[in-house]
Amino acid sequence: MILELKDVKFSYNSKWNRVDVLKGVNCSFERGKVYGIIGKSGSGKSTVLSLMAGITLPQEGQVLHEGIPTSEMNLQEYRRDKVSVIYQSFRLLPLLTTVENVMYPMELRKIPQKEARARAEKYLCEVEIPESCWNRFPVTLSGGEQQRVAIARALATETHLILADEPTGNLDAENSDKIIDLLKTLAGEHDCCVIIVTHDVDVMDKLDVIYKMHNGLLEAR
Ligand SMILES: Nc1ncnc2c1ncn2[C@@H]1O[C@H](COP(=O)(O)OP(=O)(O)OP(=O)(O)O)[C@@H](O)[C@H]1O
Ligand SMILES: [Mg+2]
Repeated sequence: MILELKDVKFSYNSKWNRVDVLKGVNCSFERGKVYGIIGKSGSGKSTVLSLMAGITLPQEGQVLHEGIPTSEMNLQEYRRDKVSVIYQSFRLLPLLTTVENVMYPMELRKIPQKEARARAEKYLCEVEIPESCWNRFPVTLSGGEQQRVAIARALATETHLILADEPTGNLDAENSDKIIDLLKTLAGEHDCCVIIVTHDVDVMDKLDVIYKMHNGLLEAR
């Protein structure tokens, strides 16, 4: 088991308002499999992903990575070394070029520049970003290209846990298929655990396990 959620509760609290989003989520995720999380807009899918990614901590319950609760970890190290995230809104760094964006997380991990560059180019090729895009800034790329660069950036770090929030939201059916196949190959060949939030029925059909976010809980389907 690479990731386990035990009775996880989370609410957003502001001075005027309190939104209970997760109400006791229990579920677990293994290596070698691709999981889907589905559910209505606003049901808490991105929230549960941000807890898995160590961006926030649950108010109650535990998120355990290889048996260790995120609440007991150095979260900065966890985010840098153990997990890769593909964000719903890409979050490419605007002042870095395409290839520099993909290299950036590897530089944080002190991977030598030559190797980082080689891996960046390898994964940009895997997601079919042509060389003519490599030295351009994200703002000059199309939405689908930006999404694929964000995917290359997450994969190039080669962690065993990949979290993807609507990774195919801006892609046509053909590109979407290729990305899902690539994620499935990584799960199979590199023994990764991939967790994908998606609304896309065609994507769902290709995944190993589907959970549905409903009334603050993740239910197996
Ligand atoms: N920073 C925040 N402060 C207050 N409320 C928030 C915050 N972020 C999210 N919420 C609320 O929490 C709920 C869950 O949001 P979340 O982004 O997890 O939904 P989602 O399932 O990812 O939706 P979508 O499919 O639209 O991306 C929503 O009602 C949202 O308005
Ligand atoms: Mg979301």
